[in-house]
Amino acid sequence: MMKMGEENTTVATTMLERTRRWWGRGVLPKAESFYSKEHEILAEAFLGQGYVIREVADRDALDACRAAIVELLAEALGEDLPDDPAAFLNQVHERIPVTELNEIRLAIYRGMNALPWLRPTYFSLGRPLLEALVGNELAMQNRVNLSIQMPNDRSSLLDIHADVFSGETPYQVVQWVPLVDVSATKSMFFLPQEESRAVVENMSDFGPGGMSALFDAVKDDLVWLDVSYGSVVIFSPNCLHGNVVNVEAETRWSLNCRFTGLFTPYDSAEKSLGSFYLPITPRPVTRVGMVYHPPKGFEE
Ligand SMILES: [Fe+2]
Repeated sequence: MMKMGEENTTVATTMLERTRRWWGRGVLPKAESFYSKEHEILAEAFLGQGYVIREVADRDALDACRAAIVELLAEALGEDLPDDPAAFLNQVHERIPVTELNEIRLAIYRGMNALPWLRPTYFSLGRPLLEALVGNELAMQNRVNLSIQMPNDRSSLLDIHADVFSGETPYQVVQWVPLVDVSATKSMFFLPQEESRAVVENMSDFGPGGMSALFDAVKDDLVWLDVSYGSVVIFSPNCLHGNVVNVEAETRWSLNCRFTGLFTPYDSAEKSLGSFYLPITPRPVTRVGMVYHPPKGFEE
């Protein structure tokens, strides 16, 4: 009579012997995980830090986005196209007073979002990462946002926050793309996943000091993203993030846009699917399913 556990051991041994026989005939086992090794490495980095920084998937596409923005800026300033786009963007504070910045930013934002190729091209920058981290049936924010952070400008600050605080879905990522090299205060800060989760859960402890007390409490743990032009950042905006006054000598230019799985909950009426987010990559089976109607005449 078999003892407990012996039966399972026998089954496992039999399977192992059978597998070895297949190997002997040159047939190898196919896959041991639903995820590829590369996917697991990416997922581990994202789940650990709350963000990943990688090279863009399509450098020409990034250059096209930057060229369009440089052209719109030159137009707004009434200047010819520059020979050095990076220097033109980095030194824009020598040409624009802070008081005119938002008006020019809005003109460029409207101009770039009027380009029909902008959103698909912007998606192509991080597409493999977005598909691995979020899914292959995606919804994308209806506009690509533009931030311009001139040195010593206090009018464009984004205090420490998580996007879920303003009613956005927790199932999203932000794709953040700098148009110039960024680091230190010219960049953005980020509180990694684990620290962020612990702080957000105990936010009521910060009482009347509010978000500035929270910033002081976590500032030693913040990561200042060091990103070269040519790279993309994908981050979870459930983690605390923001910026401070840019005290570097150059202006920061960056684009950002939100992506979420097409079939995730949309709890906010203001930021719902169909208005704030638009489906971008529904697959054929989804499209077939969406137009299916059950046969008529069987209702009770
Ligand atoms: Fe945010």
